[in-house]
Amino acid sequence: MGAEGPLRVDSPAELRAWSEGSRREGLRVGLVPTMGALHAGHVSLVRRARQECDRTAVSIFVNPLQFTPGEDFERYPRQLDADLEVLRAEGVDVAYLPSVETMYPAGATTRVRVGELDEVLEGACRPGHFEGVATVVFKLFEAARPHRAYFGQKDAQQAALVTRMARDLDSGVEVVVCPTVREPDGLALSSRNVYLRGDERRAAFCLVRALRAANERYASGERDPMVLRAEMHEVLDAEPLARVDYAEVVDELTFLPPGRLAVLAVRIGATRLIDNALLGDPL
Ligand code: PAJ
Repeated sequence: MGAEGPLRVDSPAELRAWSEGSRREGLRVGLVPTMGALHAGHVSLVRRARQECDRTAVSIFVNPLQFTPGEDFERYPRQLDADLEVLRAEGVDVAYLPSVETMYPAGATTRVRVGELDEVLEGACRPGHFEGVATVVFKLFEAARPHRAYFGQKDAQQAALVTRMARDLDSGVEVVVCPTVREPDGLALSSRNVYLRGDERRAAFCLVRALRAANERYASGERDPMVLRAEMHEVLDAEPLARVDYAEVVDELTFLPPGRLAVLAVRIGATRLIDNALLGDPL
């Protein structure tokens, strides 16, 4: 890549030609799927891909299929120029920027269904969301034909589901899950944090407090998922701006209790935030 920044491609055929060309040269291809509005969390995935692969592609596509009616598809932050500058600075080779019409031409009705993981927690709160995620990620894998693809633990259920899909559908893609990048106070970075205003940013800290409270109870020997869950709810209920969608302690593969993954989804005003922590690990 030169100083001019990543090669920009906007069709699956172009992306595949690039990937196959790289593979023919014996190079390892990495893919980082994103919806843009890039922050240090995304950058951590890009850096990991750059370390482990010879060529890196980043996709930026705000996927309408994974937004449920009434969610923030229209107002989701879009900042292509700033994002391309980030990709240039990070030495990314290719930016894949398909339009909605390219990704879903009229009549494209095929969907990837994910099964049980779609029925609990994020899946239960956002009907159709994970089908939209699985469908777009499958299409990205087909177009980019990467050796490895990079996802964040921040979206734990998404990462688990993509890992399973890659295996179930014989994609040949190795899914790599990277740690959550946080603000200095512990708030997980998210493209949606820009929605938080004034008091809401302060209130959002209750997610971190709840995870830390559960982690402390876990460290003192508590293992009952109902007690750990109650501990999180107590912290969240004390925050007047917070409305809890769920706060549970579940198994990291099935997302059913018991387990040691604390997961939560909380609305702060109109902004829905999610986070998780593996209890027993530092947070
Ligand atoms: P997006 O929210 O843009 O996130 C892109 C990737 O960055 C995801 O794998 C997500 O888990 C990761 N990520 C987000 N915040 C992070 C943080 N604070 N630390 C580490 N990684 C973080 O997730 C999506 O887009 C979409 O669902 C997508 C997979 C692109 C499919 O449309």
